[in-house]
Amino acid sequence: MLERAKAVLDLNDQGAFTIPAEGLYPHQWLWDSCFIAIGLRHYNVERAQTELKSLLRGQWANGMLPHMIIADGDEHRRDRNIWRSHLSPLAPDNVATSGITQPPVLAEAIVRIGEKLESVERHTWYQTMFPALLAYHDWLYTERDPHGEGLVLQIHPYETGLDNTPPWINQLRMHHKPWWAGVIDTLRLEWFISLFRRDTKRVPPGERISNIEALIYYDVIRRLRRKLYNTDAILTRSLFAVEDITFNCILIRANHCLRKIAKSIKRNIPPELLDRMRKSEDVLDQLWDGYSGQYYSRNFVTHKLIKEPSIGTLMPLYAGTISKERAEQLVKLLHNKHVFGATYPVPTVPLNSPWFKSSGYWQGPTWLNTNWLIIDGLKRYGYAQEAAIIAHKSLELVEKSGCYEYFSPIDGAPAGVKNFSWTAALTIDLMKN
Ligand code: GLC
Repeated sequence: MLERAKAVLDLNDQGAFTIPAEGLYPHQWLWDSCFIAIGLRHYNVERAQTELKSLLRGQWANGMLPHMIIADGDEHRRDRNIWRSHLSPLAPDNVATSGITQPPVLAEAIVRIGEKLESVERHTWYQTMFPALLAYHDWLYTERDPHGEGLVLQIHPYETGLDNTPPWINQLRMHHKPWWAGVIDTLRLEWFISLFRRDTKRVPPGERISNIEALIYYDVIRRLRRKLYNTDAILTRSLFAVEDITFNCILIRANHCLRKIAKSIKRNIPPELLDRMRKSEDVLDQLWDGYSGQYYSRNFVTHKLIKEPSIGTLMPLYAGTISKERAEQLVKLLHNKHVFGATYPVPTVPLNSPWFKSSGYWQGPTWLNTNWLIIDGLKRYGYAQEAAIIAHKSLELVEKSGCYEYFSPIDGAPAGVKNFSWTAALTIDLMKN
């Protein structure tokens, strides 16, 4: 299995970085590269370092790390044209990127690589990455937490990496429904959109987001582009901004890693940023709904919890700042056969949710990266056995079918693209642990 997983990472190797998968994903993605580096470090720590360093070429002058660095070449002109990062004076010269970010797993990946290095090399490694990482976290708080709440906001579902997760589709329908979407619905012109889609030519349409949602996602990008990806401008006259639970939990953990890096190389984090990072540690309580016993994402403007259950409710385990009692409540959800206790855990939407579809992209299937985050959190809260079960079941999925993008939590059937890099990399990491 190890050799098969390494072969996938070789297949997708582009020299300085690794693509998620051939064909469908020809660019470099932010959190993909972080997960990929976490796997690579076990057998090629230099390549793992290169993977993360190459993310920095996309960094914007304000510190933002874009969710995608778009590959050169004529065949990718359409993707460059969707984002047009060159319109912003903050975007890097000579590198085309998207204008939004993705969950900040970078600090965790840097530390994981650090663990594999001798102390002198580790010091150099941290020195190399620290300035860019600090600038990124600083940007997240300055630009994405304008009211100093301790929670950062996201402006496109792609920023969460969980593209069509129910809470975001809910917000999309409520706060970003262009007039023409109604016309397309009424006249049943939806099929027409599929002519322009790349993903559904490679993967069965039932395993991706719907045509109309794909078009509205594009429309959101057009709006962000018009506003030159400036958060202030984007927030003007729009309610479509979410404090996503998964993103924020990953940030809380990343803050912990950032502090660890700073301490190890004796560098300071500016006190103002440090205060904001501390505030995030207590903030998850605000996202807890006592009635349903779950965590939810929240609309940034209205401050209403978005009560659509999803895998996000479990992510505070990974954040590591909730009480033992709360962690226990989440573990109960994991055990519950009607909620997350599937044969192949952990479904990205609870089994009893009306949204649940066993192969519906982020609306049901089991993914290795969300499992990895939950396993890590469970271990830190002392749930070794629960962590081991999810790890074993994840490996069983890969052993049976190969490194697919995602799997049915009901019968383990593979779905999405094959030879998917983070499935391979995290398989390696789970095996080595
Ligand atoms: C999809 C996924 C996202 C991932 C990207 C590349 O957009 O939803 O999480 O980063 O593909 O693999």
